[in-house]
Amino acid sequence: MMNVLIVHESMFGNTREIAAAIAAGLRRGRPEDDRSVRLVHVDDAPVTIADDVDLLLVGGPTHAFGMTRPETRQDATTKGATSSREGLREWIASLTPRADLPVVTFDTRVHVRMLPGSAARSAAKALRHKGFERAEQGETFWVEGTPGPVVTGEVERAERWGAELAARVSHGVS
Ligand SMILES: Cc1cc2nc3c(=O)[nH]c(=O)nc-3n(C[C@H](O)[C@H](O)[C@H](O)COP(=O)(O)O)c2cc1C
Repeated sequence: MMNVLIVHESMFGNTREIAAAIAAGLRRGRPEDDRSVRLVHVDDAPVTIADDVDLLLVGGPTHAFGMTRPETRQDATTKGATSSREGLREWIASLTPRADLPVVTFDTRVHVRMLPGSAARSAAKALRHKGFERAEQGETFWVEGTPGPVVTGEVERAERWGAELAARVSHGVS
C-alpha cells in the first residue's frame, strides 16, 4: 500500500485547490474510505515524516521568485490573504531528513508576467540541502493573478498529474 503525504502552503487558497486536485488524482480508483493520501497544511505538518510515508509532495505559492518569507506573507495578508504561522521555507528547515524518501515539489505562480523563479525549484533545492537526496522539482500550476483564481484547466491538469504520480509510486520507479 502506498502512502502519500501532501504538505501545502497557501495564502489565497489557490495552492490548496491545486493540492486537493493532486490528492484526488492520487486517490482515483481507490475506495471511498481510503486513508493512504493525506493532505496537510504546513502549519500542521509533522517535522518527522512517518516511516510508512512512501512519497512526500510539497507545494506552495511562489513569492518573490521563490518560497514565501515572513515579509512576503505579511505583504500577502495586506492584500487580503489568510496568514499562516510559517511557510514551506521554515518547515523544511525544521525537518528531520530522510535521504531515501522520494519527494516531489510543486507550486503556483502568475502566468501573465514572465517572472523567473519558482517555489517548487527553491523547495526542491532546500530539501536536498536538508538531506532529502531524492527531492526533485515537479510541476508549476498557473494562477491568473496574486489572489488567483487558478487558470482554467489547471485543476484538471493537477488531478492528472496526481494520477501519474500514483502510477509511478505503485510501479516502484520513483
Ligand atoms: C508578496 C508576493 C510576491 C509574489 N511574487 C511572485 C513571483 O515572484 N512570481 C510569481 O509568479 N508570482 C508571485 N506572486 C503571486 C503568487 O504566486 C500567487 O499569489 C500565488 O500563486 C497564489 O497562491 P495561494 O493562493 O496558494 O497563496 C507573489 C505574490 C505575493 C503576495
